[in-house]
Amino acid sequence: MIAAAGSGERLGAGGPKAFVKIAGRPLLAWVIDAFRGAESIGAIVVAAPPGTEERVAAEFGVEAVRGGEHRSESVRAALELVGDEIAVAHDAARPLVTPALIDLAVARLAESADADAVVAAAPVTDTIKEAGAGGVVERTLDRSRLWAVQTPQAFRTGALRRALEGDVSGATDDAMLVERAGGRVLVCEAPAENIKVTTPLDLSLATELLRARA
Ligand code: C5P
Repeated sequence: MIAAAGSGERLGAGGPKAFVKIAGRPLLAWVIDAFRGAESIGAIVVAAPPGTEERVAAEFGVEAVRGGEHRSESVRAALELVGDEIAVAHDAARPLVTPALIDLAVARLAESADADAVVAAAPVTDTIKEAGAGGVVERTLDRSRLWAVQTPQAFRTGALRRALEGDVSGATDDAMLVERAGGRVLVCEAPAENIKVTTPLDLSLATELLRARA
C-alpha cells in the first residue's frame, strides 16, 4: 500500500508530490520499482491524489484507489483491496526505499509470531529535547533508546484493520494506531538515507542519493 495522496504543499511543487520528478522520474515511479523488486510483495495498491486514480493506474500499471484527507485514511482506503495476511504501508515520498528493506520488514514480522507490526527505523543521531512555551527545555530524552521511524511498515492485516477503525486524523504513521490499540510493534534497523521528501532541501538530497546509487 503506497500512500501517495499528499498535496506536497511544503515542497511547493505546485501539484501532488507523488508526481514530482526526481532524478528524471516521478517520486512514485521509484517507489513502485522498489516494491516490484521485493520478493515478499504480491500486489501493489496506490492511494492516489483524489481525481488521479485513473491516471495512476494507467501510467504506473498498479491498482489505484482514491486517497483520503489524512494519511491513515489513505492507507485505510488501500487496505480495502488487501486480502493477504501481511500488508506493508509505505510513503510515496520515500523514493530511496529498497527491495531489501521491504523484504527485511516482512521477514521480521513473519518470524515474530507475537508482533503485530515491524517498522523501518534509524537510530537517532541528534540529541532530542522537549520544549514548552517560549522554547523552554523541559527534558532531554535518552538518545540510546530513540529511533527515527520511517516506512516501510509491515502489519498483520487484521491488527491494522482494527487499528484504523474510528478517527485516525491525528496519526503521523499507522504503527502508532496499532500501539494505541495495544498492539506490539517492533523496529527494524533501516538506513538513515531512506529519507522522506518533504522540503526542497530533501528533494536535493534525495536527487543526489539516487544519482549516486545509479
Ligand atoms: O504528510 P506526510 O509527509 O506525513 O506524508 C507522508 C506520505 O503520506 C506521503 O507519501 C503522502 O503522499 C501520503 N499522504 C497520503 N494521504 C494524505 C496525506 C499524505 O497518502 N491525505
